[in-house]
Amino acid sequence: MLKGRKILLGVTGSIAAYKAAHLVRLLVKSEAEVKVIMTPSAHDFITALTLSTLSGHPVLTNFQKDDTGVWNSHVELGLWADAMVIAPASANTIAKMANGQCDNLLLATYLSARCPVFYAPAMDLDMLEHPATKSNLDSLRARDNHLIPPVHGELASGLVGKGRMAEPEEIVKQLEAWFFTKVPLKGKKALITAGPTYEAIDPVRFIGNHSTGKMGFAIAEELASAGAEVDLVTGPTTLTTTSKGITVHPVTSASEMFEQCKRLFPTADITVLSAAVADYTPKNRAEQKIKKGEGLTLELLRTPDIAKELGKVKQPNQIIVGFALETENERSNAETKLVEKNFDYIVLNSLKDPGAGFGHDTNKVEIISRKNGSHRFELKSKREVARDIVETITSSYA
Ligand code: C5P
Repeated sequence: MLKGRKILLGVTGSIAAYKAAHLVRLLVKSEAEVKVIMTPSAHDFITALTLSTLSGHPVLTNFQKDDTGVWNSHVELGLWADAMVIAPASANTIAKMANGQCDNLLLATYLSARCPVFYAPAMDLDMLEHPATKSNLDSLRARDNHLIPPVHGELASGLVGKGRMAEPEEIVKQLEAWFFTKVPLKGKKALITAGPTYEAIDPVRFIGNHSTGKMGFAIAEELASAGAEVDLVTGPTTLTTTSKGITVHPVTSASEMFEQCKRLFPTADITVLSAAVADYTPKNRAEQKIKKGEGLTLELLRTPDIAKELGKVKQPNQIIVGFALETENERSNAETKLVEKNFDYIVLNSLKDPGAGFGHDTNKVEIISRKNGSHRFELKSKREVARDIVETITSSYA
C-alpha cells in the first residue's frame, strides 16, 4: 500500500524510540523508501546502526556529513519526502516544532518540508496534560499537521495513563489511509483518448466533428491529480495541459489514434475512451486539392473501432470506460455498447440535454456500470463530471 512512497522518519529522544526500529521494518515491508533523521538525544535510546541497517540508508543527525565537510541539506530532504513522520515525537520536539525553533537537522527539515507531516507523541501522562504541551499540540493541529494520538497504557515512569506512542502498526495504517484518500491511483497507468479525429479528403479538407477535447483533458487532469501516470492521446485541439504526470500524444486521424492506443494499452490499468473518433474515412486521399466540379462523390471506408479492438484484448485487471453520445434510445444504445465493446463503465450523455455534449463547459451524464447498476448526475462543469468519473474508477479499487 505504501509502494514507492518516500517516508522521512524523524526519531526523537524518548524511550519509545526503540519502537522506531519496528516502524522502519513495517514501512520497508510495505515497500516504502525510508530515510531516518535522529535528534542528538535520540542516540541515547536507539543506535543509528540499527535504523540505517533496517532502512538501507545512512541515518542523519548533523547538518554536516561526518568528516567530509559536506552539507546534509534539510531542504532537499524535505522536498524528497512524500510524507514526514515524527515518531516518537517528544514533548521537547513538539514544543520546538510549535514555535518554529530549529536547532537540529530534524527541526530544520520540519520547517522546510512541503509534504504532509505526521507526528506520534510519546511522553509521560502529566507532560501530555500540561497546558504548555496542550497549547503546542493545538498549534500543530491548526497547522494541519497530522496527530497520531498517544494511547493509554503503562508508561516508562511506571505510571499508567495516556502518553504511550501509538503502535507502529497503527502509524502505518494511518499513513496508508491518508495516501489512499489523497492519491488513490498512485502507481496506476491510465490511457485517455480525447478530441475529434480528422480524416483527410485532400491536403486542405477533412471529415471531422465538433469535439473540442474538453471532457478528455479534464479526465486526464483528474486522473493525474489522483496520482495516475497518464498518456493522453488527443486528436486536433486547441487545448494544452501543463499537469505533472500527463504525457500528450497528438494524433490526427482515427488510424493514428488506433496505433498509439495499441502501443499504450497493454500497460494501462485504466483506459478512458472519450474521443469522438470519425466512423468513416475517405478510401482515397487526393494528393492535390480537389477542384470544384458539378458534384463530388466520396467513397468512405469504416475506421477502426478502437474501443472494440481494445475490448477484445482487455485483461481482467484492466478497466475500460467508454462514452456514448446519443440522440435517441439513449439508454438501450449505451447498454448495448457497454457489452459489445467490453467496457466496465459507459458514460452516457444525450444531445437532448441542454448544456451537455460538444463544446460546452458543462455536461450531464449517467454512468452505467457493467456490474453495479447506474448513477445519474446533475448538470455540472466538465471538470466536476471528470471528478465523478475518476471517483467511480477509484471505487472499483477500494
Ligand atoms: O460506437 P460509438 O462511436 O458510439 O462508441 C462510442 C465509444 O467508442 C466512445 O468511448 C468512443 O471513444 C469509442 N470509439 C472508439 N473508436 C471508434 C469509435 C468509437 O474508440 N472508431
